Amino acid sequence: METAISEHTNAFLASAHSSVITIRNLNKSFGKHQVLRDFNLILCEEENLVVLGKSGSGKSVLIKCIVGLIPIDAGEVYVLGKNVAHLNREELDILRRNIGFLFQWGALYDSMTVRENLCFPLRKHSKQTKQQISMKVEAVLESVGLPEAVDLMPSELSGGMKKRIALARTLMLDPKIILYDEPTSGLDPITAKEISELIRVVQRQHHTASMIITHDMDCAKTTADRIVVLSDGTNYAEGSYESLRESDDLKVKGFFL
Ligand SMILES: Nc1ncnc2c1ncn2[C@@H]1O[C@H](COP(=O)(O)OP(=O)(O)OP(=O)(O)O)[C@@H](O)[C@H]1O
Ligand SMILES: [Mg+2]
Repeated sequence: METAISEHTNAFLASAHSSVITIRNLNKSFGKHQVLRDFNLILCEEENLVVLGKSGSGKSVLIKCIVGLIPIDAGEVYVLGKNVAHLNREELDILRRNIGFLFQWGALYDSMTVRENLCFPLRKHSKQTKQQISMKVEAVLESVGLPEAVDLMPSELSGGMKKRIALARTLMLDPKIILYDEPTSGLDPITAKEISELIRVVQRQHHTASMIITHDMDCAKTTADRIVVLSDGTNYAEGSYESLRESDDLKVKGFFL
């Protein structure tokens, strides 16, 4: 069992990638229920980090702590160099613009076309011209392999297409970090594989750092540069897919059955 910030992480850091998220000794309880306990994590620039955890292990709570949606009890959460607990509302808003979310069900606006869905996040924040925005829409749709979907309504999209469009919408704001919550859940194995491969493509094309929360081991295998196992509220084990597959630890083995 490995704890705290492991040699593997240190090796990654030493290879000239600096961290975009650093979490030190994070503690979070709800009443008497301690969900996160001295949890440590580093996400490096341009890295794909998979967080594996059983249902109820605290993965969504972790994401909420990272984006400042819930207050933490103790420890430190740094995102893009900022201590999240020290930010006011406006500063948090600015920080969140650099973070893309891919929710489990895509969460597209049903009454808007794909183009309108993609333009929506830019309306508030962007000073780009209509033509620039239009070119951006084409570019992100190309990135996710769906250039022909621009005028479709969400009801005309399959589950896999919705995920792609949701990812394209995230890319419209050029996020430095993308947080994926169960990106392959509810998809058939072939579509799930395509989405996992797309996560890799996005990493390469857009140079984003990503945290991918999943218990789909095929997704972990395809997407992960490194895996952290969240168990008992802490970063229970950590390593590459291959190194964790060889682990003798029963809790780690459980994910590979
Ligand atoms: N606002 C809250 N108030 C009280 N308890 C909460 C709250 N949010 C989460 N919890 C508890 O924290 C624990 C972890 O929840 P979390 O949603 O992070 O799990 P998860 O790992 O994301 O699970 P899943 O894979 O099912 O999404 C659960 O026991 C949950 O009941
Ligand atoms: Mg969850």
